[in-house]
Amino acid sequence: MLPKLDEIRLGVNIDHVATLRNARGGVHPCPVDAARLAIEAGADGITAHLREDRRHINDEDMARLQALCLELGKPLNFELAATEEMLEIALVTKPHAVCIVPENRTERTTEGGLDAAGLHNQITPIARALADNGSRVSLFIEAVPRQIEASYKCAAQVVEFHTGAYAHALDMGEQGQADGLLEAMRLGAKHADDLGLEVHFGHGLTFDNVTPIAEIPEAKELNIGHFIIGEAVSMGLQPAIAEMRRLIERARGVEG
Ligand code: PXP
Repeated sequence: MLPKLDEIRLGVNIDHVATLRNARGGVHPCPVDAARLAIEAGADGITAHLREDRRHINDEDMARLQALCLELGKPLNFELAATEEMLEIALVTKPHAVCIVPENRTERTTEGGLDAAGLHNQITPIARALADNGSRVSLFIEAVPRQIEASYKCAAQVVEFHTGAYAHALDMGEQGQADGLLEAMRLGAKHADDLGLEVHFGHGLTFDNVTPIAEIPEAKELNIGHFIIGEAVSMGLQPAIAEMRRLIERARGVEG
């Protein structure tokens, strides 16, 4: 059993600051300024997804986010699809971490986990090239044994479990379904940890659903974006991050 009080990091995903900027095609609001505010408010790192269609973060944002993270001594987690184009950009950017995600042009957001088992031959050389270039490589998967074992075989150092279905079940009032998915993530976290994989979680996390995820002892990082940026409209970005941190720390038994 891992110690319950161990460190857990909050990565703030700032993609949707860029979504808002792009709605008008100008320069405001600026995701790099938002990332600086997020770190000042207690984010342990910044996460951003450079999509093939550049619907939110663009290439210049990613380069500037990496410069900011280097300046502030915080990790950048660069989310990307397993393509040659993205590999080239990540090799030049040299982020602390890369999270390989599935990508589909017609989806609104990353809908399911990566098929690490089916895509072994595509993912493994990309994961190795990124790791050789100094980035920690994570695969965004569903918490099922087949995908956890496949991630290990793809040379990933980290797995991020997709919490979207759990979050959606709770939103729909399907408590039994949410409980089952939570139990699968608990077991999956143990399984991944036994294989030597670091365990992260992300997607759809909110003030209301984060606690059971943060209580999973193997959880080392939570990546949260849409909800925090949404709350920034009402309570402000920094209070939203501070409140998320407080909930996560309380779940780990850290009094604040
Ligand atoms: N982790 C990964 C791998 C993601 O793709 C996303 C969404 O871009 C997130 C975390 C954050 O999800 P959300 O914006 O729903 O908090």
